[in-house]
Amino acid sequence: METYTGIPKELKLAVLERIKPSGSEREKLLTIQEELALQVKAAAERLGIPDVVVKMVGSAARGTWLSGTHDIDIFISFPEETPRKELETMGMAIAKEVAKHAEHAEDRHAEHPYLNIIYKGFDVDLVPCFRVASASQIKSAVDRTPFHNDFVKPRIKGREDEVLLLKQFMRGGGVYGSELKTQGFSGYLTELLIIHYGSFENTVYAACSWKPGEKIDIMQHSEIKHEEPLVVIDPTDPKRNVAAALSLDKFCMFIDHCREFLKSPDLSFFFPAPLLPFEDSEILERLESRKSAQLAIVFKTPDVVEDVLFPQLYKMEQAVAALLKEYDFTVIKTGVWSGKTETAVMLELISGTLPNVKKHVGPPVWVKIHAEKFKEKYQTADGVFGGYIENGKYVFEIQRKYPTAKGLLEDRLMSCSLGKQVHQSVNEGFEIIENAEICRLKESDFRVFLRKWM
Ligand code: CTP
Ligand code: MG
Repeated sequence: METYTGIPKELKLAVLERIKPSGSEREKLLTIQEELALQVKAAAERLGIPDVVVKMVGSAARGTWLSGTHDIDIFISFPEETPRKELETMGMAIAKEVAKHAEHAEDRHAEHPYLNIIYKGFDVDLVPCFRVASASQIKSAVDRTPFHNDFVKPRIKGREDEVLLLKQFMRGGGVYGSELKTQGFSGYLTELLIIHYGSFENTVYAACSWKPGEKIDIMQHSEIKHEEPLVVIDPTDPKRNVAAALSLDKFCMFIDHCREFLKSPDLSFFFPAPLLPFEDSEILERLESRKSAQLAIVFKTPDVVEDVLFPQLYKMEQAVAALLKEYDFTVIKTGVWSGKTETAVMLELISGTLPNVKKHVGPPVWVKIHAEKFKEKYQTADGVFGGYIENGKYVFEIQRKYPTAKGLLEDRLMSCSLGKQVHQSVNEGFEIIENAEICRLKESDFRVFLRKWM
């Protein structure tokens, strides 16, 4: 067992100095929120839409946003009995009115449509929702959000700094964000952890001893069995696990981050030094010392949001690894990287080539009909090196169909089950590059990825 020293107060203050919104940042955000709320109401009136309530939600409304993250969540709430279609058309009509004053606007889709705008430099989501009686009676996933606000706000008062510390600490560990790309901790989840454990420090200490299956049920209102590594029952909806998006690896990365931090608490756990892009010479050195095979499947980045793209890339990663395995290649690891124009699925193999000879094991000799057929087929076939009996079975040494991983992928990649947009893009064209050819990919973000990869 490690014995841990406490977390120095000066360290927390030094972190807060960098992440806590200043008085003027706070004022600016509040002013903008109020401005937008008035615009939503005015837009509803202009369009003659009654019964619309504007709700400020998310970290901006709770005083738990990290300085510099200018994101505001505004919910446009309609009476529960509003038909879904009407909610969508009216909600988007109001949002688009507001967007007339914005620098930029973009339609987005979660379970139903919402509008993302850039307004005076702030990243604002305008989200239509139903005004339901409780979070357990929601009609759409976003309907829960206002209830989160009502739960968190009074309970987090006075402990906002603890939330900021935990969010930044998770950022530093690469585990903050519940998007499908990251599969980490959401903002609401960090707030619930602070409410449950009381402070940043207590959360970090507790997490050091977490195991998969860890369950936190603040309201003690759920008996449901969940399969996820961390189960934090939503205080506003007993059926939901707030940590459902957290992957096992991000859960474990957080545990590890907490343990390492307590061994020697310092700023770098909150603000890790940025990684420098890998240079060509470093790539070549690593290839030389690792002596494995590096392959990249490169194709045009599909034009879809990350929440759609990444699950498809992770699926592709699995499918490609399974294909390679099926044809006797040994995969060391897989990864994905996606930039603005190009996307790469990365594969490290023990070797990218296999011998031409492949051992093909047939039926036992005593299974007469099958065994005779098998022998007859391979005895006379082209390119067979030879045959023998081993452990009672016919064995033929035949020609391997795919002696190179590159050849296999070029021929069979399209037979892998791929998500819709990734399939489309790969179908339009892809390239398999190997080892030193990887130097062709110049994007600095890819080179940073490579530093972690190799
Ligand atoms: N929300 C949710 N589940 C998610 C994402 C969001 O329930 N997977 C709800 C939460 O109530 C959250 C709100 O939507 O507070 C706004 O989402 P987001 O901006 O992603 O999170 P914040 O809590 O605002 O945290 P951050 O500081 O990272 O913006
Ligand atoms: Mg937010």
